[in-house]
Amino acid sequence: MTKLRLGVNVDHVATVRNARGGPHPDPVRAALMAAEAGADGITAHLREDRRHISDADIERLMAELSVPLNLEMAATEEMLVIALRHKPHAVCIVPEKREERTTEGGLDVAAGHNHLAPFVRRLSDAGIRVSMFIEAEARQLDASKSLGAPVVELHTGAYCEVPSGPERERHLLRLQTAAAHAVKIGLECHAGHGLGYDTVKPVAAIATLAELNIGHFLVGEAIFTGFTQTIQRMRALMDEARS
Ligand code: PXP
Repeated sequence: MTKLRLGVNVDHVATVRNARGGPHPDPVRAALMAAEAGADGITAHLREDRRHISDADIERLMAELSVPLNLEMAATEEMLVIALRHKPHAVCIVPEKREERTTEGGLDVAAGHNHLAPFVRRLSDAGIRVSMFIEAEARQLDASKSLGAPVVELHTGAYCEVPSGPERERHLLRLQTAAAHAVKIGLECHAGHGLGYDTVKPVAAIATLAELNIGHFLVGEAIFTGFTQTIQRMRALMDEARS
């Protein structure tokens, strides 16, 4: 089985920094530490309201990282200009509502085809690998494929939010079915949102997934055991699930 990549999302290091307005803790330092601890890539979401990651963070991540940067962004003209200026390795297009606490659900690619098409085209033309953050539904996968996005990321939030039991198993089955469909139609399939030590293994065991993106849990748990140890434990759980 191929190795499952771990993308570490450093948004919430910036959330803590921004609570006081100074430079500490520095999300770029966290990103460098994450790469050292075994992260295969770094993910950062530049939100319209800049509530965590800032434009200057993206600038520094691009300059200082030796692993790929996956920039999460809404499909807006402002974000497109920023992405085309920095040319990160990857862009993940996410839905964004100003009032939400986090990305609450996947992008409706099927309904948003006409709006999204020029974003996918212009990012792809610039050599940026585009992914669509979607719910685990065949019609969203098919719509992503028809837009020409080479990658999809399945939203694991619903799976993580319910307690373990039959409902979580149903969500897991949806993720498994969607990941298999993605690969069948020629898409690289990623997953993320809400994953922690208790929820990661069944998702990591899905053989057709290539990458998980994890942030909030890692940053929170790092308070107790340190960022390096937290990332290494997550990496080990992912590897165990694959072995
Ligand atoms: N993947 C995507 C597309 C996201 O928007 C997020 C949250 O920013 C994550 C993964 C990581 O989610 P979490 O911080 O809950 O681990």
